[in-house]
Amino acid sequence: MEKVRFGVVGAGGIARRRTIREVQKYAQYGEIVALMDVDAKVLEETAREFGIERTFTDLPSLLKEDIEAVYVASPVYAHHEEVMAALQDGKHVLCEKPLALNRKQAEEMAEFAEKMELRLGVGYMMRYNVYHREIKRMIGEGILGQPVAGRAQLTCWYPPIPSAWRQVKALGGGGALMDMGGHCIDLLEWFLGETEAVFGLLDTIVHNYEVEDTATVVLKFKNGAQGIVDNYFNVPDRAARNLLEIYGTKGAVFAENTIGQDGRGRLFLCEDFAEGYDAAQKRQEVGYRKIDLVPEPLYAREVDAFSLWIREGRKPEIAAEIGIQNLAVIEAVYQSSQEGKLVSLV
Ligand SMILES: NC(=O)c1ccc[n+]([C@@H]2O[C@H](COP(=O)([O-])OP(=O)(O)OC[C@H]3O[C@@H](n4cnc5c(N)ncnc54)[C@H](O)[C@@H]3O)[C@@H](O)[C@H]2O)c1
Repeated sequence: MEKVRFGVVGAGGIARRRTIREVQKYAQYGEIVALMDVDAKVLEETAREFGIERTFTDLPSLLKEDIEAVYVASPVYAHHEEVMAALQDGKHVLCEKPLALNRKQAEEMAEFAEKMELRLGVGYMMRYNVYHREIKRMIGEGILGQPVAGRAQLTCWYPPIPSAWRQVKALGGGGALMDMGGHCIDLLEWFLGETEAVFGLLDTIVHNYEVEDTATVVLKFKNGAQGIVDNYFNVPDRAARNLLEIYGTKGAVFAENTIGQDGRGRLFLCEDFAEGYDAAQKRQEVGYRKIDLVPEPLYAREVDAFSLWIREGRKPEIAAEIGIQNLAVIEAVYQSSQEGKLVSLV
């Protein structure tokens, strides 16, 4: 199968740190043939690092290249305009998360893609983590019984940095919740189904910037299960555990540091169907067993899945609807935090 030829929009950030490297090394169905970045120096460095010759500092020039698709990895405030321009020019678009600054923009982008009969995907690549796929399988096969609760956490140390677009609400759309919580919400919705209502506690308690550095979200899913998402920009990276827990009536899984960029982490399963009430609650005799799987490169898998959508019409799990749904939940959390009450999404 001929590989899908991608151009990158915003080459110097996550594209340089992860995506280009992984695609070059592991992708079977997509390749990166041209780069665009507004920063000429970063562009030149990235091009040299990966041996990519076609480089541009403006989008119209990139779009004139012999490419079928673009991977948009620019700051969030640029997504709407750049995705619309690429679609207008007939290119399929894989856009980094969050799809846009808000749900309205994301819906416009998805509608336009539909109208142009082009593919629009969103970068919730953590669904390609082998441990997350295993959890999804276990839930689907009923191994955990009826799911009753989930928790997803993602943290990092993110002090004030001059010119950091993520620290300005108008440029990033929000702080820890918008940037990291989206992944957590996406995973919990993938495991437990769509959200029915949310309650959010968002605050800036350590750093001197306007977006939240601390976010705790309580979710109620349509199937009745409950969830917690917690995101902090103010916890040292070395202390990060990035916990993921799913509890059901027949057992539970928990994972450490699978929520992250490198596809690794540790997963533990406890299968224990208690037939009756045990007043002694012999927890230590039950225990979790570790499940070892071979990690996969998340960004290469994401690009491959998107490329197969183009080549074979097989729609990947992370198409634009997921990006819209994610922003709907995030917006409800911001509303909840402002109003101090539960916000319904139905
Ligand atoms: N899926 C993930 O794991 C993941 C991880 C990190 C970032 N992201 C997402 O990727 C996007 C970029 O984040 P980042 O951390 O790479 O940001 P960054 O600021 O580190 O890098 C952005 C790059 O885009 C360039 N740029 C700025 N404005 C541009 C424009 N208008 N057009 C083209 N290029 C432009 C910058 O010069 C820089 O090289 C965001 O949407 C972010 O949420 C996703």
